[in-house]
Amino acid sequence: MRNMLIVFTCYVLGLSGTVAFAQTKHALHLDQSFIEDRLQQSAKQIKLLAAATPADKFPQNFEQGKHKFSNSSWWCSGFYPGTLLLLSEATGDAELKQLGLDKLKHLEKEQYNKRTHDLGFMLFCSFGNALRITGDSASYKPILVNGAESLASRYSPVTKTIRSWDHGKWKYPVIIDNMMNLEFLEEMSKQTGNRKYADIARSHANTTLKHHFRKDYSSYHVIDYDPETGAVLGRKTHQGTADESAWARGQAWALYGYTMMYRETKDKAYLKQAQRIAQYILHHPNLPSDLVPVWDFDYDKIPEGSKMYGKRTLRDASAGALMASALLELADYSRGKQGEFYFRQAETLLKNLSSAPYFASYGSNGGFILQHSVGALPINSEVDVPLSYADYYYIEALLRYQRLLAGKKMIQS
Ligand code: GLY
Repeated sequence: MRNMLIVFTCYVLGLSGTVAFAQTKHALHLDQSFIEDRLQQSAKQIKLLAAATPADKFPQNFEQGKHKFSNSSWWCSGFYPGTLLLLSEATGDAELKQLGLDKLKHLEKEQYNKRTHDLGFMLFCSFGNALRITGDSASYKPILVNGAESLASRYSPVTKTIRSWDHGKWKYPVIIDNMMNLEFLEEMSKQTGNRKYADIARSHANTTLKHHFRKDYSSYHVIDYDPETGAVLGRKTHQGTADESAWARGQAWALYGYTMMYRETKDKAYLKQAQRIAQYILHHPNLPSDLVPVWDFDYDKIPEGSKMYGKRTLRDASAGALMASALLELADYSRGKQGEFYFRQAETLLKNLSSAPYFASYGSNGGFILQHSVGALPINSEVDVPLSYADYYYIEALLRYQRLLAGKKMIQS
């Protein structure tokens, strides 16, 4: 009804391009030519990365003029094939599609990996997109089902969460990032009719909602649970400046995670949580005017003697890309001025990420699309480098926007 009203209003006002308004209540302020150009440039750029990437390896980053590649077991292995597939969808480039699909055979074995919670990133961003785009159930669905089983094996009915890591000093660590793996379980529940996956996803989201957030709706990074009782043993950080700080990508994972869980469940508690997280992020005094966050919202509390001090104001484009994609979606689920605000912020982010200093010029940046992300500053790992997940969520956001421009639904399943 609302869409009909918008189309009718456009007709009365004599506006052209009414179809472009059909799937969103928001006017689209970014030009089609701008979005198409960024997608084409990205497609051209990633072919350079493809040419540099060994057949059985996965691009991880590009630092001091050198590529780093990973094996399939690295948590990011699904992002590069996923980005190739999203770009092929956006541009119709058959070469990119083939490159993406070819990479999958080197990732297949991770379906049996029960030592990580990152199977959503590894398998859903890759095989999940392959299944959606090609419709080839026979090839991809069994792998996804096995992967969902592996992920579900990490769920404990005592803690009511999926265990994140098997390493470290924690008893049963769960990190906020883990919200992102729930989309995989939700989808596999729909694909197989097995409620177990959705039940686990919802249970994990509910427990995380209860224990992972502070009063201001910023998120802790790591919650350590007692595996025997489910009690919270500690609230810690691994990648932020301090246990009580708001690590920027963690806030972005949370924003995206609860927005996605609202899409999957229509549970208003998840929508409310996503909006509260958005409120925290978008009204934070330390959020720069271009909206691409500094790697930790509490960077200004880093003491002068800290080894992080000199690098404290570095931006994290990966968090910005996640925020752009999540805010486009959250805008659709939010009413009035609030929804309008999220949509405009998403557009601002998309525009800024699509320009210098974030959008790399052709031939630079080792063929990665975005510059200036931060992996883990406290351990001086992947600091101010391109990262495969920054590219993935940036291209996802562009693709969502491209669909809106074409009058299509932003999220395709
Ligand atoms: N999931 C790990 C990270 O965001 O760095």
